[in-house]
Amino acid sequence: MELEAVPTMQNEERDDVFWQKFSVPFQYPVAFVRGLFDPAKSLFADVVAGEETDKRHRCFFIIDEGLAHLGLEKIIGTYFDAHSDRLEMIGPPMQVPGGEIVKKDLAHVECMQNAIHTRAIDRHSYVIAIGGGAVLDAAGLAAATSHRGVRHIRIPTTILSQNDSGVGVKNAVNFKGIKNYIGTFAPPWAVLNDFDFLAHLPTRERIAGLSEAVKVALIRDPGFYLWLEENADALATFEPKAEEFMVRRSAQLHMRQIAHGGDPFEMGSARPLDFGHWSAHKLEALTNHHVRHGEAVAMGIALDARYSVLAGLLPEGQDERIVVLLETLGLRIWHSALESRDASGRLSLLVGLDEFQEHLGGALTITLLRDLGVGVEVNEMDATLVESSLNWLKARARSE
Ligand SMILES: NC(=O)c1ccc[n+]([C@@H]2O[C@H](COP(=O)([O-])OP(=O)(O)OC[C@H]3O[C@@H](n4cnc5c(N)ncnc54)[C@H](O)[C@@H]3O)[C@@H](O)[C@H]2O)c1
Ligand SMILES: [Zn+2]
Repeated sequence: MELEAVPTMQNEERDDVFWQKFSVPFQYPVAFVRGLFDPAKSLFADVVAGEETDKRHRCFFIIDEGLAHLGLEKIIGTYFDAHSDRLEMIGPPMQVPGGEIVKKDLAHVECMQNAIHTRAIDRHSYVIAIGGGAVLDAAGLAAATSHRGVRHIRIPTTILSQNDSGVGVKNAVNFKGIKNYIGTFAPPWAVLNDFDFLAHLPTRERIAGLSEAVKVALIRDPGFYLWLEENADALATFEPKAEEFMVRRSAQLHMRQIAHGGDPFEMGSARPLDFGHWSAHKLEALTNHHVRHGEAVAMGIALDARYSVLAGLLPEGQDERIVVLLETLGLRIWHSALESRDASGRLSLLVGLDEFQEHLGGALTITLLRDLGVGVEVNEMDATLVESSLNWLKARARSE
């Protein structure tokens, strides 16, 4: 972390500066279940009520439109009837568009803030979001900015939001075409992952989320990486046991990084969990989000794996091995937008590198690979090696 200036100044003897200091411990449960709203199961009501069992807790639901066909309003209504001693539903659930649409226009966040206001949701009531990573990001921002933060429970319904985005401490929406420009760090009250939602996901979304598991395995856990290789076929065909293990392990690794990585609110310049993301964010924007986040991350991983080899960090051949895993999982490693250029002829991805640095602030810090399961940070990216890596990906994709 680059905060050395603070302790140095703190140690100085001076009478014109007082140091305000406090720390706030954060904790929240992350559950992995099936049948979350089965009236016979009390987990949801237990999480909402906590120690305050002598009152009814006010809950307002925001639900991803992609789940409209599941009839959740009725299912949740039945659950609330069964637990009416502790739960009170405030108004009908609000439906919001799913996917990147909800993040592209701040008006959606404002609608949610307005609903939180008109339903008189206070800092002891709950905003509960059910949906994919995009809806959770937008609803999380609305909850974090209403009354400076009301209690917020996330119920992630995609692979990606269960194994990565939903368990973390960030929310954001896009602004002026820049991914995640407006957002906050706001730990949730709880994260409740229900595997039953995954069966309803379109195949494309179900595959896309696998890339985040590959990402976190590659930078943090060699054993999990080998497990992914061994179980790639089972994961590609959505074998439930393999899928559940993958979600849990990936979520745990993300949680561990946030809790023990030393920088949960990203005050420094490094963001290890964003391995493969500097190019992914740009690719998403370049394709107007036709390429999904998870799909773009797969291509970003492949690009940075090849770059790691060309930079002499990763042994030759390991890049190929990573690409084989991605492809076995059903992920693609090439899209023509990767080689698009701006009006001056500059590779658009390199413009994305500048944007990535600005987003993080401070020195450019990119995570690359030293081994399968071992990340390494670098502070510059060589434009020629980026081009060579792209050429390799393109040639490899063509040869299939
Ligand atoms: N906050 C973070 O730390 C963080 C981290 C990684 C990614 N993200 C964000 O997450 C977003 C991607 O999220 P995602 O991959 O979960 O996809 P998504 O939220 O974009 O959803 C994809 C589609 O699936 C639909 N859907 C969701 N759940 C469904 C279900 N169970 N059945 C059927 N359809 C369903 C949605 O309506 C949408 O059409 C991106 O905006 C990305 O930036 C945030
Ligand atoms: Zn991601």
